[in-house]
Amino acid sequence: MSRSLRGRHLLSIRDLSAQEVRQVLDLAHHLKREHRAGIRHELLAGKAVALLFEKPSLRTRVTFEVGVRQLGGFSLYLAPQDVQLGVREAVPDVARNLSRWVDGIVARVNRHATLEELAQAAGVPVINALSDQEHPCQALGDLLTVEERFGRFAGVRAAWVGDGNNVCHSFLLAAARVGLSVTVATPSGYAPDPAVVADAQAQGRRWGAEVRVVTDPKAAVEGAHVVYTDVWTSMGQEAERDTRLRAFQGFQVNQELLRAADPDAVVLHCLPAHRGEEITDEVLDGPQSLVLDQAENRLHAQKAVLSLVL
Ligand code: CP
Ligand code: NVA
Repeated sequence: MSRSLRGRHLLSIRDLSAQEVRQVLDLAHHLKREHRAGIRHELLAGKAVALLFEKPSLRTRVTFEVGVRQLGGFSLYLAPQDVQLGVREAVPDVARNLSRWVDGIVARVNRHATLEELAQAAGVPVINALSDQEHPCQALGDLLTVEERFGRFAGVRAAWVGDGNNVCHSFLLAAARVGLSVTVATPSGYAPDPAVVADAQAQGRRWGAEVRVVTDPKAAVEGAHVVYTDVWTSMGQEAERDTRLRAFQGFQVNQELLRAADPDAVVLHCLPAHRGEEITDEVLDGPQSLVLDQAENRLHAQKAVLSLVL
C-alpha cells in the first residue's frame, strides 16, 4: 500500500518509492497540459512557501516562485544574507520559527546535513532545492523531459558524462525508479557516492534499469539515447577549479563524443553551463539539446511536488 505524500519531506529521491516518482510525473504532465490550455488549479490556495537559499539560483528560485503563484499560493524568498543559517540563528530555530508562519520550506543549502536538521525541527514539509549531495527537483523535471521526448523509459538508455555530483546522484536514483538505464562515466576519484549507486542498482533490478559506472566517456555514450552532463566545478568547489579542469580533460560533451550516441540522442544539462568546459556551444545550442525544455519542466515537476506534499 502506498503512503500519501502529504506532509512528507523531499530531501532525497530516496524518500520516494517508484510509485511515488510515477505519481509526481503523472501529475506534472497533467499540470503542464492544463497550464498550456489555460486551465488554472488553485491547489495551494492561500498557502505560503518559504524559499530559503544559501547559494545563488536562477531556475530553481524562479520556477518555485512562479509555480507557487500559479497554484494560488505565495512564496517568500529568503536570501543567504537574510537568514544566515547556523550563523545568525541555529538551524532548528529557523525551522521552528518558519513552521509557525508558512506551509512549506524549500531550501538550497551548502551541506546536506543542514536540510536534515531543518527537516527534523520543522513542523512543515522541507523540500530540497539543491544540496551538495542531491538535487531531487531537477531529476524529476529531467524525467519529465525524457518521457515527453521518448514516450517511455523502458529501453531508453542514458549516459551521464562528467562529475558524479549532486545532480548525477538524483538523476541515478530517479532513473532507476522508472526503469531508465544509466551509464555514468567519470574520471576516477569523481565517481558518484557508492551508496547512491547501490540504491540505484537495487531499484534498477526491480524496475528494469541497468545502472553502471565506468571511466570511459565514449563507452558510456555508445548508442545512448540521452547524454547528460553538468559542470565540473559545482557551487562551493571553486577552489578546486584548476585541479578539476585537468582531471576532467576528455570528458567534454562535444560533437565528436555525441557521434558515438544514437543518431536521435538528446542532450541534457541542468544549467547553468560552463560553456567550453563540460559542453561546447555547438552541442548546448544545437538541435539535439533539450536544455530549455528541462528548465521549463522544473516548473511543472515542482508544481506537482508542491501539490502532493503541502
Ligand atoms: N538547474 C538549477 O538548479 O539551476 P539554478 O542553480 O539556476 O537554480
Ligand atoms: N552541480 C551544480 C548544479 C547547479 C544547478 C552545482 O551544485 O553547482
